[in-house]
Formats: sequence, C-alpha cells, structure tokens
Amino acid sequence: MFDIEKFDIKLDTEQIGRDFVYAEEVTSTNELLLNEKNLYKHHGTILLAEFQSAGKGRLNRTWLSTQEMNLTFSILISDPKFLKKRINILNFAAALAVSMSIENLFQLKTDLKWPNDVLIANKKVAGILLGSVSSGSRIDRLVIGIGLNVNQISFQGKFNYEPTSIKKELRQNIEREKLLAEILNSFEDLMEKSLTNPKFILDEWRAKCGSIGSRIRISENEKTRQGIFEDINDEGFLILKSGDNLETIHFGDVSIIV
Ligand code: BTN
Repeated sequence: MFDIEKFDIKLDTEQIGRDFVYAEEVTSTNELLLNEKNLYKHHGTILLAEFQSAGKGRLNRTWLSTQEMNLTFSILISDPKFLKKRINILNFAAALAVSMSIENLFQLKTDLKWPNDVLIANKKVAGILLGSVSSGSRIDRLVIGIGLNVNQISFQGKFNYEPTSIKKELRQNIEREKLLAEILNSFEDLMEKSLTNPKFILDEWRAKCGSIGSRIRISENEKTRQGIFEDINDEGFLILKSGDNLETIHFGDVSIIV
C-alpha cells in the first residue's frame, strides 16, 4: 500500500504532484490522463496506479509490472508554456529526474539509453513513454508516463533489454513514497530549466549516456541501421554517422555493437 501522507511530507513542488490521484487498478495511466480530460485537468496532476491491466511501452509494446511493487505513474503537462516547442526535451528531463533520484537516494550509478531508458549495471530499471493530444499543430495535453522497477525482483517474459529493479541491485526494500517525491521534486526543477536553459538538460543527458561515440545498431520494426552514435540534436533526436553521412533518427531501439 502506498502511503500518501508519507509521500506528501517529502513533496516539495509547486505544481507537479499537487493534484495526486491514487488508483488500485487502471488500464494505463497514460491512456487515462490523455483521454479523460474532464476528470483530469490540472497541470502537474499525477496518476499513480498499483496495477495496469494494459500498461503501454514504447513501439507498441506492453509494460508489465507486479502489483504494488513498483512505481507506474503518469504526469499531466497542460500549461501551454511547456507545450510550445521542443517537447521532447521533457522526455530527457524525466529520464534525468529518475536517474538523479536513484543516484542521490541510493548511491547507485545509472546510465541513460536513447531515447528514454534508465539503466543500472547495463540493465533496464525504468522506461518512459510520452503521449499527447493535439488540435491541429497545437499540443493541448502532454502525458509523461514512467514505469520504474522498485521492489520487484523477478521478471517473467521475454525482454528486449534485461530488466532489473532498485531492490535487486541494492538488496534491500525501497520506500516508494520517498522515491516518488524525490523524482517529482527534481522533475519540476528540470522542467523550469527546460525553458530557461535547455542546453543544461541536453548536456546532463549526454554526460550520462554511455553509448555516445560507440558503434550502434538501431532497429525499428524490421528496419535496422548501423553507424556511430554521433550525438543528439537540440530536439533530442539521435544523429547517426555512417561514413561521411549524418542521419537524424526519430525512433528505434539502440544496441551497442561490440
Ligand atoms: C518503455 O517502453 O520503456 C516505456 C514504458 C513506460 C511505462 C509507463 S508505466 C506508467 C505509464 N502508463 C503506461 O501505460 N505506460 C507508462
């Protein structure tokens, strides 16, 4: 059981998490925050679910998470000032908030994997999925969904990338309330920085991404490309170098070629 009071004491934000919705079971927290606009209106609303019956992952995958073990939640961004340009940078801000919180609270080293995975010891501890609702070219609602493996220690199924959890790496039970508050505190700070100093977010992300400069393979469905992971551009897209050719990649799964 998630103790909302414990969480609230640690939350130090102005907007993010001030509307907090706790649910035992939903289909997908992303789906609900995106579609139920009459129920969830306020910028910064958090929907945390103990179980998702249809949790969504990137590239149409499913996200599985054992009930009450982890953090599966979504953040609603509806303040237009954050939705004007380069929303992809919020993706990086979210990955950084998760990574910095794990490092600060548990002294575990994390790495970031393009576009939005958080790794510990080369295994995936968290994934992030962005969704949005637009009218014409204007984005009305952006939802940032985060799945973070906290206390689950066994993972069934076939995985694209080996999963882990904080408990599995640290061998001790983790208080989810303090961790969630820390993530939201950092995320609110980083969101402000995404407006005033977007370069800070991109540079912090680059510094934590161990695969920049490596030879990589990028797969998207049946399509694969190979080259050197040159950098990310100002919008957060991956720049792949093959010979003298630079290509901008928007989607895909990255693996390092050894
Ligand atoms: C990935 O494929 O790595 C992204 C996973 C994102 C999972 C989270 S869990 C909370 C939110 N609700 C969803 O349905 N998906 C995201």
